[in-house]
Amino acid sequence: MRQLSKFFTKWKIFWLAALLVLVLVIRFWPSSLSLWPSNITLTWTGNTADTETVTWQTCKYIMYSKVEYAERGVPFSAAVLSGTAELVDTDMGCVAVHSIKLTHLKPGTAYRYRVGNGFFWSPYYSFTTAPAEAAPFSFLLFGDSQGYSFGVWQDTLDTAYNRNSSAAFMMNIGDLVDMGLSYRQWDEWFHAGRGVIETIPIMAVMGNHETYNTEWKIVQPLFYTAFLRFPDNGPPELKGKVYSFDYGDAHFTILDTQRQEEEEWIPNMLILQQEWLKRDLSAAAKRWKLVFMHRPAYHNRLIAGDEDLQETFAPVFERYNVDVVFAGHDHAYARSYPISKGKWSDEKGEGPVYITTGRSGDRTFAKTEAKSWNAVFYNPINQPNYLTVAVSERNLQINVYQLNGEIIDSWGKTKN
Ligand SMILES: [Fe+2]
Repeated sequence: MRQLSKFFTKWKIFWLAALLVLVLVIRFWPSSLSLWPSNITLTWTGNTADTETVTWQTCKYIMYSKVEYAERGVPFSAAVLSGTAELVDTDMGCVAVHSIKLTHLKPGTAYRYRVGNGFFWSPYYSFTTAPAEAAPFSFLLFGDSQGYSFGVWQDTLDTAYNRNSSAAFMMNIGDLVDMGLSYRQWDEWFHAGRGVIETIPIMAVMGNHETYNTEWKIVQPLFYTAFLRFPDNGPPELKGKVYSFDYGDAHFTILDTQRQEEEEWIPNMLILQQEWLKRDLSAAAKRWKLVFMHRPAYHNRLIAGDEDLQETFAPVFERYNVDVVFAGHDHAYARSYPISKGKWSDEKGEGPVYITTGRSGDRTFAKTEAKSWNAVFYNPINQPNYLTVAVSERNLQINVYQLNGEIIDSWGKTKN
């Protein structure tokens, strides 16, 4: 009897050890070794009402890409689009990046889809296109998600999405990861986004950390531009980093503020963007104009900020009536008074409002402070935060929450 119990105890240990190994393999198996589609992400590279772009990764041996998609609830209507992957060399081996743009979709319509190569398929997911006519909508906005690990980012994203499951899409203000050329960090960032980033598009802003390799040297942000696909309507020199799109009554403009890192290979990158920004904003026919940039034009650091950004862009924001300029980088939440020609007085003033979005990952900065142009300042040292932005024809409403649900700021603007 005792021998029998010893036998079972031995096998119990064996199976427990096997289970532990399996869990570790699943947890740390990089997508660069996966036959099945991994890191599946929705973005827009075209019109938000009738296109959707889906990007995913596999090991280098899977080069054939397929998306099967159909209007939800319409049987036998599935269509298949095919393509070929691009190979990207990473510090964890070569990875195949697949990206397919679905076009001619019906506006305001739910679709289900799966991706694969025809043999190894993902599960089914779904997305909904933007309505043809502008209607009220909201989106989620996250400050820097960078960190040594991405559990905090996952908590912030999941919590924000669970509380706002009707959000049309989400935005990340840059410094998505700590080391932009660390495949492990990107893989963990995508894993943390599972359950959200295959269902609503993520439109991102590039940060300075996207240009750092694993030895903290500044390099081209090749993983950012390879793994996340955005409209190519910006200056050609800044493809994938500077772009704009429309959703509902709002025009969204995304800039690249990494002059310190990138000007070596993109000379005059701020002037290039200034010229493009004038054309972009003057052509924007939307009621609300929102700009997103990683480094803030009006900062909260104890040391000097990036005054060149203020000089280059603020006059253009003012001239074309930008409503809000969102930024990151300082890991603090701050909202300015409206600022015009470098002057501010109170909440009723003229000019764009500048909002620094806080942090959604585990990195905090103690060395920030309220500035004279701030109407609200809050350093999210104790827990991360996120923003909801609701847009309708007449109203823009921004709410800022701590992870625990407590409100940090609530600010709105009305146009008649
Ligand atoms: Fe940054």
